[in-house]
Amino acid sequence: MDSNASTLALPTASAAAFPADFIWGVATSAFQIEGAPDAHGKGPSIWDTFCRQPGAIADGSNGDVACDHVARLDDDLDMIRDLGVQAYRFSVSWPRVRATGDGAWNEAGLAFYERLVDGLIARGIKPYLTLNHWDLPQALQDQGGWANRATVHRFVEYALGIAERLGDRVVSIATHNEPWVMAQLGHETGIFAPGIKDRGIAAQVSHHLLLSHGLAVTAMRAAGVKASLGIVLNLSPMYPATDSEADRAKARLEDGRIRRWYMDPLFKATYPQDVLDDLGHAAPYVEAGDMALINVPIDFLGVNYYSRGMVSADNSFDPKTSGLELTDMGWEVYPQGLTDLLVQLHRDYPIKRLYVTENGGAFKDPVGADGQVHDEDRTRYLDTHIAAVGEAIRQGVPMGGYMVWSLMDNFEWASGYEKRFGIVHVDYATQRRTLKDSALAYRNFVLRQRAAR
Ligand code: NOJ
Repeated sequence: MDSNASTLALPTASAAAFPADFIWGVATSAFQIEGAPDAHGKGPSIWDTFCRQPGAIADGSNGDVACDHVARLDDDLDMIRDLGVQAYRFSVSWPRVRATGDGAWNEAGLAFYERLVDGLIARGIKPYLTLNHWDLPQALQDQGGWANRATVHRFVEYALGIAERLGDRVVSIATHNEPWVMAQLGHETGIFAPGIKDRGIAAQVSHHLLLSHGLAVTAMRAAGVKASLGIVLNLSPMYPATDSEADRAKARLEDGRIRRWYMDPLFKATYPQDVLDDLGHAAPYVEAGDMALINVPIDFLGVNYYSRGMVSADNSFDPKTSGLELTDMGWEVYPQGLTDLLVQLHRDYPIKRLYVTENGGAFKDPVGADGQVHDEDRTRYLDTHIAAVGEAIRQGVPMGGYMVWSLMDNFEWASGYEKRFGIVHVDYATQRRTLKDSALAYRNFVLRQRAAR
């Protein structure tokens, strides 16, 4: 370990008070780290296919090797333990456990996730499982994917199969990760898999994702699953770029499209009228009874927070002019937005428990002459955002935990390997992992938090 390891700290966050049962963790997702696209009888996912479309991925890369996590599982589990965290959020690759999404189950794939879960537990780390972190089996896409209502039922089968196998050992199961991203970026702008560009399809996909969430939760509960059940959304408070009525109206609509479109069905059994009006003919087809099926009680809401949303009616807002620090993604660093968001969610919806299931930043991260990564920008980012969670707790928000995105550098979707979100550096040529300064600071912080209980 390098000499400054024990002195690295999160000074701002340390001042905040976190409840004794608050969980500190790190997060990843299957496609972004696993590699081994054919192992275990795995079938292709829509991301395997999408990566092969010329121009789809910035650096022309794919997930074939990624962090080679499947082959390095035990070492990676040791590394998570060495970080001192209590929880690891990961996702199961649906086509790894059921290649075509509707045919035979792959025993070897299931056994891999069993080894992962048991390996975490043996190291004293709580497993937080996500079922769908975007990698739909390609065979289901060939039948229409999430636009096809039949996929909803395939997802329920998948959820039950995983719950039956692992539901007694994982702490929680989230149905979907960021349905807005799958619907919107996958089916309206088409910059993510499956690369469709159709507003009506995107809206229908969002409805099917929500419906499959509700049905899966109900089915898993009926099967007696002990793990707590919920969903993970990407959320940002939306601020108008100016005080003009046009900017304020656009900010309200954006908030509707990203936040209320998901939160209202989940917690109030209704879609927001202003967004339905805006969609017009592109509004989804909703069968009688669907909204009640979506609106089932859940144990937790996971919030992925990266930045605020600044909205101007003419899309002229440029983050470069805001004076705020920007991450390598070009996203503004704005910790206050996390407090605002959590407080607002708690005020507007009856949520039992909230988790920050993802938070972090991509930064340039050069490896120094000493072989270390002195990522002061990321350390500062984590420090101020953890403090922002502390402030939300002080204001009465029932927070259950915080997970850094990400455990290690990985495949950042359409950005490929160019953007690094890890607190652990990955040298892709050698697969060598190096704890960045932010990892050391987070570890010191978490260990002190745990010791103070
Ligand atoms: C949210 C997604 O869940 C995750 O997969 C992605 O890498 C991060 N945002 C960073 O963009």
